[in-house]
Amino acid sequence: MRSKISVIGAGNVGASVAQFVALKDLGDVFLFDVVDGVPEGKGLDIMEGTPHWGVDSVVKGFTTVDSGKYENLKGSDVIVVTAGLARKPGMSRDDLLAKNVQIIKSVAENVKKYSPDSVVVIVSNPADTMAYAFQKVSGINPKKIIGLGGSLDSSRFRTFLAMEIGASVQDVNAFVIGGHGDDMVPFVRYSSVGGIPIESILSKEKIDEIVKRTRFGGGEIVEYLKTGSAYYAPGIAVAAMVESIIRDKRRMIPCASYVDDETAKHYSAKGLFIGLPILIGEHGVEKIFKIDFNTEEKALWDKTVQSVKGNAEKVDSFLSQE
Ligand code: NAI
Ligand code: 2OP
Repeated sequence: MRSKISVIGAGNVGASVAQFVALKDLGDVFLFDVVDGVPEGKGLDIMEGTPHWGVDSVVKGFTTVDSGKYENLKGSDVIVVTAGLARKPGMSRDDLLAKNVQIIKSVAENVKKYSPDSVVVIVSNPADTMAYAFQKVSGINPKKIIGLGGSLDSSRFRTFLAMEIGASVQDVNAFVIGGHGDDMVPFVRYSSVGGIPIESILSKEKIDEIVKRTRFGGGEIVEYLKTGSAYYAPGIAVAAMVESIIRDKRRMIPCASYVDDETAKHYSAKGLFIGLPILIGEHGVEKIFKIDFNTEEKALWDKTVQSVKGNAEKVDSFLSQE
C-alpha cells in the first residue's frame, strides 16, 4: 500500500515539501491550508508535473476553513506541520512564537482527533518550541514528534564547509545541535571531510566565520528575499526526514527531539524538545546518541538550552491562560 504524507500549511515550505516528497515517490501527499483554494491549486499543479518524473504520487489539497476537512488527515503515516507565520527582515524566529503557538494549538487538536498515531514533523518556528507546544496540546507520544532545525542547519553547515574546502558536499560530515535559533551549536570537533577533521584543514578564523554564517544562515536568506524566509533547503531537509521515516532508513539527522528523564541525565534540558544527534526511522526518534562536551562546548550547550527553556516557559504560560 502507498504511504500517506500530510502537509499542514501549503505556503512556501509546505508546497516545497509536497514537491520533493512526490519527486522522491515516497507516497501520496495531502496538502491542507486555511486559504481557500490554495492547497487544492498547488496540489493539482504539482501532480500535473508527475508524468515527467515518472512517479505515481497523488497530490491533493484541502482547504481547512471548513474544519471538517481535517478528517482527511486520517491514516497519515507522516504529518508535516508548516502552518504559521514566517520571518521578515529584522525578525527573529522567536518573534513568531506568540502567533504560531495559537496556530499550532488548533493543528495539534485536529491531529489528535484524526491521526494520533502518525509521526509528526514540526517546521513552524520556533520549531523546537512549537514541537513542545504540539506535544503538550496533543498528548501524542513525544518520540513520534520531531522538530526541524538540525536537518536544515547541518545541511547549511556542510554546504559552507564544502564551498570553502572545494570538496564534494557528499564527503563533508558535520552536524548542528541545540535550538534552531541564533545560539545553535555547529559541532566543529566532529566535523570532517572524508574522515579528516576540519580543524586540521581550515584555520580557526575560517571555521569561526563558517560557524557564524551557519548560525545566521536563515537570516541571510531573509535579508535577500525581504518578504519571507527560506523554503527550498527547508523543503529538501524535511523530505530527507520523511524518507528516513517512510523507508525506515534510520538516518542520523540531528533534529529537535524530546528529552526524557534518561536523556536529561546526559544533556540536561529535561522535558524540552531540542536538537540532538538522533536516528530517524519508522517510529520517529529511534535512538539518541550521547556525545561528551568539552568545557567550551558545554558552555555553548548550556546557553542554547536556556534559550529553548525560556521559550517553553512562554508556551506554558500561554497554554495555562487558555
Ligand atoms: P508561508 O507564509 O509561505 O506559509 C505558511 C502557510 O500556513 C500559509 O499558506 C498560511 O495560510 C498557512 N496557515 C496559517 N494558519 C494555518 C492553519 N491554522 N492551518 C493551516 N494552514 C495555516 O510561510 P513558510 O515560508 O512556508 O514558513 C512556514 C513556517 O515554517 C514559518 O513559521 C517559518 O518560520 C517556518 N520555517 C521553519 C524552518 C525550520 O528550520 N524549522 C525552515 C523554514 C521555515
Ligand atoms: C530558516 O532557518 C526560517 O528557520 C528558518 O531558514
